[in-house]
Amino acid sequence: MIFTRLLPALALAAALSAQPASHPIPRIVTSNGRHALLVDNAPYLILGAQVNNSSAWPSTLPKVWPAIADIHANTVEMPVYWEQFEPSPGRFDSTVVDTLLTQARAHHVHLILLWFGTWKNGSSHYMPLWMKHDLARYPLLLDANHRPLDSPSPFAAASLDADIAAFSALMRHLKQADPQRTVIMVQVENEPGVWGGVRDYSAEAERIYETPPPAAVLAALHKSTSPPPANWHDAFGQDAGEYFQSWAVSTYIQRVAAAGKAIYALPLYVNAALRDPLKPGRPPSYESGGATDNTISIWKVTAPALDLLAPDIYMRDSVRYLKVLDYYGRPDNPLFIPETGSGALTARFFFSALGHGAIGFSPFGIDYTGFVNAPLGASRLNAEALAPFALNYRLIEPMNGEIARLEFDGKLQAVAERAENPSERLSFGPWEAIVSFGLAQFGPGNHPKGNPEPVGRALVAQLAPDQFLVAGYFCRVDFRSTLAGRQRRFLEVEEGAYDHGVFHRARLWNGDQTDWGLNFTSAPQVLRVTLSTY
Ligand code: DGJ
Repeated sequence: MIFTRLLPALALAAALSAQPASHPIPRIVTSNGRHALLVDNAPYLILGAQVNNSSAWPSTLPKVWPAIADIHANTVEMPVYWEQFEPSPGRFDSTVVDTLLTQARAHHVHLILLWFGTWKNGSSHYMPLWMKHDLARYPLLLDANHRPLDSPSPFAAASLDADIAAFSALMRHLKQADPQRTVIMVQVENEPGVWGGVRDYSAEAERIYETPPPAAVLAALHKSTSPPPANWHDAFGQDAGEYFQSWAVSTYIQRVAAAGKAIYALPLYVNAALRDPLKPGRPPSYESGGATDNTISIWKVTAPALDLLAPDIYMRDSVRYLKVLDYYGRPDNPLFIPETGSGALTARFFFSALGHGAIGFSPFGIDYTGFVNAPLGASRLNAEALAPFALNYRLIEPMNGEIARLEFDGKLQAVAERAENPSERLSFGPWEAIVSFGLAQFGPGNHPKGNPEPVGRALVAQLAPDQFLVAGYFCRVDFRSTLAGRQRRFLEVEEGAYDHGVFHRARLWNGDQTDWGLNFTSAPQVLRVTLSTY
């Protein structure tokens, strides 16, 4: 469907009223510092997969769906390309978006749409041709030497107006074209900021840089206002350029996001290219102006239309990975990992994300186009490479709502194996769950040595004071009473599955299957464990 900004009034009124009560708009709720994404009014865990950048074209979708099926995702992240969506000023083409909606429904998955608008990885490569041809009107950012960088200026008023109009058109279209709520969330821009520079030095940027930063930004960064700082450098010293760029980019995106949200209040977020959480350095060694761990608080005060700021985590070591989860999983920021590496060692971190209360997780580059975002020599993606993620999703999907609810209620703990830690302890008051990696299934468990590769993972959720849901891979889980002199006794270990919220027992584990603890291999198994002491 092609349409223009001047929708006839009647059609517009009909579109705006298309809000059937059966599918309420997805939303994020927060309670006691924990978060849940509600889809159809129930907690929903995003078992995601993001396609490669150029894969959301109708001609390419046949290479997407088999990979989505192989990984067992329930949600697919697909870009919407501004250059395709607005081929000439004010003329919007939703044909590709409509194809995504139709095919996602046919494949029984939800969508998260990624608005590749003003920013894509810090550049403006997805601006339509008619904008690219007019650099005077839609300018690039100027570096300290007043040379343009390959990055849009966050002070370009015409670019902002155009992005607001286009993103609004997208949200308006979704509102009338998606009463089913196939789309559950929208990412506004993609890894915004600037690579290779720190901030914009355009005339408008320079003018504002010499004025005092907004009081809310000063407060967010715990800067004293007596005496009031004269300008950004006065307030923030050597961090001033980076903070200024973060404020400018987030201010721009707030305008885009707020305009879209006013039309259709889907959850919105921005993703971030990260800095090293252990040795951060300073920009330009990382992208400046995005929601990096040190500028989350700027984004929070400047861009309230965004429901969350999301880390793209391509780190593979557990120390860094867990640090990033700590940074972004906050009472004021629902944790969602919209991109992560597709390697086998990354799949385990899905459990770490659950343990940090995440609402979703999504490896990047999941399609069979043959493109792999790794150094040359990496093999093409296939079902075998996706298997570690498929294990996660096949285990969780049948009890998706239960897991999301247990997370939201603060009842669930989950861990991934860390090479340096062959066992983990999870505390549940009078009970402690001990997760061990690298043990044989039969025999004592005092000296776990870790798996040959750290691929183990486990989750334990408290269903009742002495009852737990336990699942995992490549690990042993056992329980210990923390009450003095009391020993753990398995009353019942039921293997089974949830169906519409009810746990159905398939068999009981006993004898060798429980005498040494509960051993999980590569088989997707879910246990309901009832304990007592003696
Ligand atoms: C992060 C970006 O957000 C993605 O769109 C993609 O470019 C990956 N990096 C690298 O493949």
